[in-house]
Amino acid sequence: MSEVQGTGPIIEEVLDEPVQSTVAVAGHPLHAMGVHFPIALAIATLGVDLFYWFTGDPFWVRVSLWSSGFAFLTAAAAGLVGTAELLLVKGIRIRVASWTHAVAAMTLIAILGLNWGIRMADQAQVLPHGLLLSFLGSIFTGLAGWHGGKLVFDHGIGLIVSDKE
Ligand code: HEM
Repeated sequence: MSEVQGTGPIIEEVLDEPVQSTVAVAGHPLHAMGVHFPIALAIATLGVDLFYWFTGDPFWVRVSLWSSGFAFLTAAAAGLVGTAELLLVKGIRIRVASWTHAVAAMTLIAILGLNWGIRMADQAQVLPHGLLLSFLGSIFTGLAGWHGGKLVFDHGIGLIVSDKE
């Protein structure tokens, strides 16, 4: 039984369930390793769109096609690993905060997919729709990333504590 004070029996039951990461390589959780790519690429795409807006150089349109595409693909890959953690680990699955992060992250993945899709369909869409989607994507990257951090640092979810000294 947990020793946390001031909680009811249901909260204590939740606290007793395991929350360690299961999708890991050599003791390193894959989701935590993978999320850096979509975070960096989504925000880089906003920067690239701003460069295009200021310079009008079509080079930046081609750069944003690649950065937005890889932002989406790496976010989808990270989302698959995150979903596996969510469904496989009981202590993660029964926490409301995990599902809040999943909803924010899936909204982010949808925005990133749309941002890539409109550029694939018509590169002239970069201004203004692409730029606006990059801005929205950066806001959701911040929301999902910050909330993911809360899962780890506030709830202690997804850690693998080594037994080495
Ligand atoms: C359906 C999609 C997703 C689900 C279900 C999900 C689920 C989770 C879970 C369960 C954790 C706790 C740590 C773990 O068990 O690995 C976590 C952490 C985290 N997630 Fe996600 N995630 C998803 C997508 C994303 C995406 C697209 C991002 C990118 C912004 C992201 C950013 C983070 C961050 C930054 C952490 C904290 C990692 C750390 O500091 O160790 N997640 N996520």
